[in-house]
Amino acid sequence: MTAADRQDHQAFAAEIAKRRTGDPVVVPHVVGGEERFDGELIGREDPGHPSLTVSAYHDAPAELVQLAVATSRAAQQEWAKVPLSTRIEHVRRAIDYVADAAQEWAVRVALEVGKSYAGAQAEGVEVRDILRCYTEYAERPGAFEDERTADPAGFANDSVLRPYGVFGVITPFNYPIVQAAGPTIGALIAGNGVVVKTSHQGPWSGQAVYEMCQAMDLPTGLVNIVHGADEPGKALTASDIDGISFTGSVAVGRSIMKSFTNGPYARPVIAEMGGKNPVIVTDTADLEAAADGIVFSAFDLGGQKCSALSRVLVTPGAHDRLVELVAERTGRVVVADPTDADAFAGPVVSAEALARFERIVGQAREEHFTVSGGERLDGDGYFVRPAVVSSVPADHTLSTTEHFLPFLTISQVPSFEEALSAANATPMGLTAGIYTGDIDEARAFLDGIEAGCVDVNVPGHATTGWWPGPQTFGGWKASGSTGVQTLGKWYTQQFARQQARKLP
Ligand code: ALA
Repeated sequence: MTAADRQDHQAFAAEIAKRRTGDPVVVPHVVGGEERFDGELIGREDPGHPSLTVSAYHDAPAELVQLAVATSRAAQQEWAKVPLSTRIEHVRRAIDYVADAAQEWAVRVALEVGKSYAGAQAEGVEVRDILRCYTEYAERPGAFEDERTADPAGFANDSVLRPYGVFGVITPFNYPIVQAAGPTIGALIAGNGVVVKTSHQGPWSGQAVYEMCQAMDLPTGLVNIVHGADEPGKALTASDIDGISFTGSVAVGRSIMKSFTNGPYARPVIAEMGGKNPVIVTDTADLEAAADGIVFSAFDLGGQKCSALSRVLVTPGAHDRLVELVAERTGRVVVADPTDADAFAGPVVSAEALARFERIVGQAREEHFTVSGGERLDGDGYFVRPAVVSSVPADHTLSTTEHFLPFLTISQVPSFEEALSAANATPMGLTAGIYTGDIDEARAFLDGIEAGCVDVNVPGHATTGWWPGPQTFGGWKASGSTGVQTLGKWYTQQFARQQARKLP
C-alpha cells in the first residue's frame, strides 16, 4: 500500500468504525420514485461481527414486485422513443457521481459483505469504468444498426436494434454493486426499463445502483429497486417481465431459464453463473510465479467469486514443490477485518458459508487428504484460514463441486494432456489458467480448454482479474447462458432485439 492508499484506508476504517456504533440503515424499496417499506423487516448482519446488524431491508411481497414491473413498463414507453444518443448522454451523467461515491460504497460493501479495502473500493471504480465502456461502445457506428445495402427492388432497407421492454436484474452478494450496475446500464442504454432485486446479503450496497440511476436523470419509475431473498426473485421471474439478467448459481440460473420458457413466447435470460475454475501447472512452469497467481486467484475475496480458482492440476515433476510453495504462501495470507490495512481477505459471508467450509474441510481430513489451513480463526466473525487440500484425485467431488469458499484442491495428474481433460471434466466453463514453459502446451491449452476466460502464465492471477476496458468476461457451458460476455462491445445489444425494416 502506498502512503496515499494508507491514508484512504484510514478514512475508510474510521467510517466503518463509526457506522458500527450507529443504528442499522433501513434500505427502502423504490417504486415509481417513492420509497416503500412493504414486507417483513429483516436485518443484515456484519459477517465480521455477526452480533451487529448493519442494515435492514423489507422482504418485498410479490404484489410490490409486480407493481415495480408495471411502473417500469409505463415509463419505458417514453424511454424507448428517446434517441440512442440521448439515452447514452443520460447514462453518462452518472460517471462523475459514481467516481465520487466510490469511497462511501466501499464502506457499505465492507460492512455487509466483509470485503477488504482493495476489493471494496474497486466496486465503485469498476462501475465507473463500466459506465465509460458501455456508453463508448454504444456510440460506435453500427452498434445498434446493421446497415443494409440498397435493394434491387428499390426498397429502403434497415435493420435496427429495439428494446424488449423491462428487464429484471437479480444479483449476488459478492459484487453487490458491480453485478447489479452492469446489466442495469446495458438495459437502459438499449432502451429498457429495469427492476433491480438486490442481494439480501448486500441490500444497502445494492441500493447504490438506484442512487447511480438518480444521477442519470431518468424518467420517474423507469428504474425501480426491490429487496429481499428468494421470494421477490421468484416473483420477478414469474411476472410478465420481458427479460432477466441473472448472476448467481447454476441451479438458480437454470431454474430461471426453465421458468422463462413458460408464457406466451421465449424471453431472454442473460445469465452469468458459477465456475469450477482450474489452473494447469506443468513441469516446465515457473513455480514461484504459479504459486503467487494461484494463491491470489484462489483466496482473493475468500474464494467467493465466480472467477476464483478452486482446482490445481499439476504434473508430477512440479507437484511436490508447488504444494509446498502454495501452502507456504497461503500461510502468509492475512485474513482480517476490513479495518485492518493489511487484510487481504475478510470473513466468509454467512454462518451457512462457515458451516459448509467446516464441513468440507472436515470431509477432506476424514478422507485422509493432506490439508493445510482450514481452521476457524478466533472471534465471533466468520473468519477462516484458507484451506489447501492436496493428494486429492482430480475427479473427487471435493475437486469438482463449486464451493464458493476459500478452499483449493491440488491434484497430481500424469501429463499435460490428462490435466487438460480433467480441467474440462466439469459442467462449468468460466475461467481457466495455465503455467507452463512449453509454448506447444500453451497453444494446446488455448485450443482445447472449454472456458470463456483464459490466462496463460499471467503473473499474479491464475484465473481472475477481468476488468472493463482491457478484458471481457463470461462463461461457457453451464457458466453462461448466451456466449456473449459482459464488459464487451456486444454486451449491451443483448438487451435489444433486431427489427428488419423494408420500406418502399
Ligand atoms: N472481475 C472479477 C474477476 O475478474 C470477476 O475476478
